[in-house]
Amino acid sequence: MEGGIELDRLDFSIKLLRRVGHFLMLHWGKVDSVEKKTGFKDIVTEIDKKAQEMIVEEIRKVFPDENIIAEEGISENGKKLWIIDPIDGTINFVHGLPNFSISIAYVENGEVKMGVVHAPALNETLYAEENGGAFLNGERIRVSGNTSLEECVGSTGSYVDFTGKFIEKMEKKTRRVRILGSAALNACYVGAGRVDFFVTWRINPWDIAAGLIVVKEAGGTVTDFAGKEANVFSKNFVFSNGLVHEEVLEVVNEVLKEIGEGK
Ligand code: IPD
Ligand code: CA
Repeated sequence: MEGGIELDRLDFSIKLLRRVGHFLMLHWGKVDSVEKKTGFKDIVTEIDKKAQEMIVEEIRKVFPDENIIAEEGISENGKKLWIIDPIDGTINFVHGLPNFSISIAYVENGEVKMGVVHAPALNETLYAEENGGAFLNGERIRVSGNTSLEECVGSTGSYVDFTGKFIEKMEKKTRRVRILGSAALNACYVGAGRVDFFVTWRINPWDIAAGLIVVKEAGGTVTDFAGKEANVFSKNFVFSNGLVHEEVLEVVNEVLKEIGEGK
């Protein structure tokens, strides 16, 4: 609070992410060394760390009493929580592919209140606030109206056991299935009606927190794999336009059974 007026978190976040986006663009496709985290597929760069520092420094300055969870090593807990991914889609960023984003969400008592996903190479900012609708660069967005999987373009992430079988099944039912490489951005694309569903497995809260509110505010449905309303810590997610949700869940659960992860 400043002078009794609640600071506009959305405006703060959009400006901050656009500033960090300019920094990322200086290094996009030009990073010469990467560090492995849990394995050779899980990488981080100095740029991820610097971008996170820029974001965290600003939040600490403006909202000093609030807590932060951020991918590169901050794991606080609290009623007023910021959840940050400084680069979602680090592999795309390193390889010079444009599908990467910066993601920030504000969560109060476990509920996402605001989220912003900014894709600097695409010059797109997607955002939403609770009960305020969802937007892309200032234009209101809505999920698609497709009711039949045959008209749908779906999307998922790359998960060693899950993805092959999921795509094999979904390719028989949908127009196409895409893997874009940034979960945050991909979730928002459901909100923008660019894809009809997005399925993601064993994901971290910073990858989907902002996308969660964007999709909900765009009129979509977000559940876990059991079909239960998802929250930011759910881990497995189906984001959809709502109209094809049940059919997508059915396929997800067939795959889980086949790979021995089903009920
Ligand atoms: C990754 C991306 C990717 C998803 C992975 C995430 P990162 O995030 O969102 O699309 O499939 O599960 O870890 O590591 O680039 O921030
Ligand atoms: Ca990241």
